[in-house]
Amino acid sequence: MPCHAVDLERQHKGTGKINRTNYTRTETKKSLPQSIRLQSVELLNRNLASAIDLKRQAKQAHWNVKGPNFIALHELFDKVAEAAEEFIDLLAERVTTLGGTAEGRIQAVIEHSALSPYPTDTAAEREHVDVLSTALAMFGKAVHEAIDEAARFGDADTADVFTEISREIDKQLWLVEAHLHG
Ligand SMILES: [Fe+2]
Repeated sequence: MPCHAVDLERQHKGTGKINRTNYTRTETKKSLPQSIRLQSVELLNRNLASAIDLKRQAKQAHWNVKGPNFIALHELFDKVAEAAEEFIDLLAERVTTLGGTAEGRIQAVIEHSALSPYPTDTAAEREHVDVLSTALAMFGKAVHEAIDEAARFGDADTADVFTEISREIDKQLWLVEAHLHG
């Protein structure tokens, strides 16, 4: 058993209860030190909250958009929701790969999402496009910072997961913002 796994076991035997603050209680034979895994899990879970929020916001736009470009925007916003679902899975499964608990509860989303709440009075097509492109840009910024952060504390694979997501956010932002021009 690797020493970090022993440490984890000792930690939990000592208290007799599950540590619910660090979310890395599952033992794993991964060589990445526990101190790095803890930081990665925290960073991934924080961005998981934003990704879930992004999906909900895309659906909010998908359901409520009205206007002459309804079909195009209704479908575009659903594509953003599909992309967000991919981000959610990538982040959550990286958490569990590292021995952590993926935090997908709605309460955690409210607490940790980096996005602004979707306004309830949004009606015009252009407003939905504007709000959703802002949400994508905010998530993109958080993910970009996460790439650097993960690389800094020594988890290149987690940085790579964030890079993959960042590339797709850029594409989604381009598709949505195209409707603001012209
Ligand atoms: Fe639908």
